[in-house]
Amino acid sequence: MKLSIIGAGYVGLTTAACLAELGHDVFCAEADAGKLSDLQNGKVPFFEPHLEELVARNHTSGRLNFGRTEQAIDHGHAIFICVGTPPLENGEADLSAIEHVAREIAVRAQGYKLIIEKSTVPVKTGVELRRYMSRHNANHLEYDVVSNPEFLREGSAVEDFFHPDRIVVGVEEERAATQMREIYRPVLEQSFTCPVHAPCSRRKEPVFLVTDTNSAELIKHASNSFLAMKISFINIVADLCEAAGADVTKVAEGIGIDGRIGPAFLNPGIGFGGFCFPKDLQAFVRIAEKFGCDFALLREVERINQSRVGKFVETVKKELWVLGGKKIAVWGLAFKPDTDDIRFAPSLSIVRQLIAQGASVRAYDPQAMGKTKKEIPDLICCRDIYEASAGVEAIVLLTEWEEFRKADWARLSGLVERALIIDGRNALACETVTAHGFQYVGVGGITGAPELTPSISRP
Ligand code: UDX
Repeated sequence: MKLSIIGAGYVGLTTAACLAELGHDVFCAEADAGKLSDLQNGKVPFFEPHLEELVARNHTSGRLNFGRTEQAIDHGHAIFICVGTPPLENGEADLSAIEHVAREIAVRAQGYKLIIEKSTVPVKTGVELRRYMSRHNANHLEYDVVSNPEFLREGSAVEDFFHPDRIVVGVEEERAATQMREIYRPVLEQSFTCPVHAPCSRRKEPVFLVTDTNSAELIKHASNSFLAMKISFINIVADLCEAAGADVTKVAEGIGIDGRIGPAFLNPGIGFGGFCFPKDLQAFVRIAEKFGCDFALLREVERINQSRVGKFVETVKKELWVLGGKKIAVWGLAFKPDTDDIRFAPSLSIVRQLIAQGASVRAYDPQAMGKTKKEIPDLICCRDIYEASAGVEAIVLLTEWEEFRKADWARLSGLVERALIIDGRNALACETVTAHGFQYVGVGGITGAPELTPSISRP
């Protein structure tokens, strides 16, 4: 099918590349001239596993092309709107980019178009979009508006596209649902060649859920808010475990075994970040307010999350006493592993506070160093965890990159000034690091004393 994507951000570019991989003829529009020229030269402007190879393969084969919005409007039978909806000062989503695209479609498009809103938007955006289109419909365009919310996680977006739990389509006309089913048919039947795993054992057919547009829009905000609520819940349970002498990992395991609760999103730590959870949570609270519902529960979720940074800095201070003049290694800066995204990352707030209190922070992140250095010029950026950890009084882990779990602890114990690890994600095995002479401080009551005297052999 001839499909168009407007907006080549995380969601738009991933959707474009994956739809092309399924065999569709895709045109992706990007308004930023620099980004567009990068894409036309095969350069992906952010790090996302597997995405670059998918973009390159499909661009070379001619199934994925890039250009301007007008070209995208002319090209696609279906147009996915994937433009940004950043938060306004009051927490509401700014929908001006969506309105702008709607205007361009209304004044330019001919015949029939399936207009798909994929950007995260408040409930009733589909209704407003339809109203706007009908008011500006210069060419008597025939169209349907569909809400098709995105559930891709950064770091596993390609995998999530091909193996989703569900595909939600909010429609007002049956013909729109039929076309959406056709677009996603290979994913629904799991009949594609998997670009992530070979051989692929994850062939579970996703649920195709058809709703009205209002409900589909609410599903997106409600899902993200529910997951955020699970994280804040376990973070307070972690506080309780710490105070009462219990182990949050065991408590989370015990809770998660209950099929009604599930084990996912019960990892405590420095709190959730990224461009989705914090903004979607705020937006959902504002949406509820607008409709006269007091979602105080979610305001509390947000408050708990914001308190994590201060709490973690206090933990570091408890161990190091005075931060002024201390050298600290920070492992991980991205808001989560497998991405270079640092937007609303709690790690950055922690680093800023450590530096503000006089610590010298030596950081390493496999992908997010360049972006972070621009935000925090005082940060000392290192080539790897070993350079970052040389001569430090504490190693502070803020993002659970897989490579940190494979660290050479014997080598590290010879590099550090003091063998102390403060693990903000409970990512490391306490028994492994203590066996190498490190003191371990995790979140939620997980601590371990060194088993050996550290062999400090600094030059
Ligand atoms: C999220 C949703 O999962 C996805 O469906 C939606 O489309 C976009 O928002 P993403 O922001 O990429 O995806 O990351 P996610 O993996 O959900 O993690 C969000 C934040 O929660 C991260 O900061 C992560 O570190 C934190 N988190 C997650 C926890 O602190 N504990 C957990 O148990 C899980």
